[in-house]
Amino acid sequence: MDKRPVVVGNWKMELSHKSALEVFSALEKMMKEKEFEVDVAVCPSFPALHAIADLAKHTSLTIGAQNIHEEDRGAYTGSVSVSQIKDFVSWCIVGHSEVRQREHDSDEMVAMKTRLLLTHGITPIVCIGETQEQRFDEQTTRVLLQQIDSLISALDRVSLLKTVIAYEPIWAIGTGEMPDSNEVYEVMLLIRKRISQKFDGDLADRVRLLYGGSVKSDNVGQYIAGAGADGVLVGGASIHPRDFFEIISNVSKHYAR
Ligand code: 13P
Repeated sequence: MDKRPVVVGNWKMELSHKSALEVFSALEKMMKEKEFEVDVAVCPSFPALHAIADLAKHTSLTIGAQNIHEEDRGAYTGSVSVSQIKDFVSWCIVGHSEVRQREHDSDEMVAMKTRLLLTHGITPIVCIGETQEQRFDEQTTRVLLQQIDSLISALDRVSLLKTVIAYEPIWAIGTGEMPDSNEVYEVMLLIRKRISQKFDGDLADRVRLLYGGSVKSDNVGQYIAGAGADGVLVGGASIHPRDFFEIISNVSKHYAR
């Protein structure tokens, strides 16, 4: 299998401009000392994208955005378009539950943003996941299938291959409460099965699937080795350079090529 694992740090709205530069520099310093067969991206807030993209030149680190507006230009106060960031980023998170909830992004909207990013050569990291309530109501599979089907029916084979899908159970985000590796394994299987049904098994194996939600260096191994995820999407721990570095190192160690 010729795919590389991916570790993405979603910095959310946690860092001042100055701290963002410091966190990046500290991480870069550690990364320089080691060589990992891992794609590593950090996703700062919009105001820091340009400066951090400059720092990232000639390093092993890559940069992503946390969201994007679905239109390319227009009178959308407070929004940022793909054209405005495409010189700085190679990744962009879409459909994060915090955005879905706040901005009421539907599955269709998420699929639209995914396609828009792909036309600009940016890798979309599409988040899916169920709420605590849906989990208790045993609606997880139904909810995930809806999100997965909506995405894969909007993409052709080549586009899907370039897309990364991140399973982030909403109840696991920032809570320290996590699914066990079997549960995540089942979701990875569900996504691959769906891709296989619409396309084929080869594509299903090659699409990179991530797990996200309370990932730390001491629990990441189970999601890579046990659940078969191709990487992780990290929130809280990603703003601490040492913790994030340890996560990258553990992903590299546990990923079976
Ligand atoms: P935490 O790692 O803080 O749980 O956040 C996960 C997340 O939302 C990443 O996108």
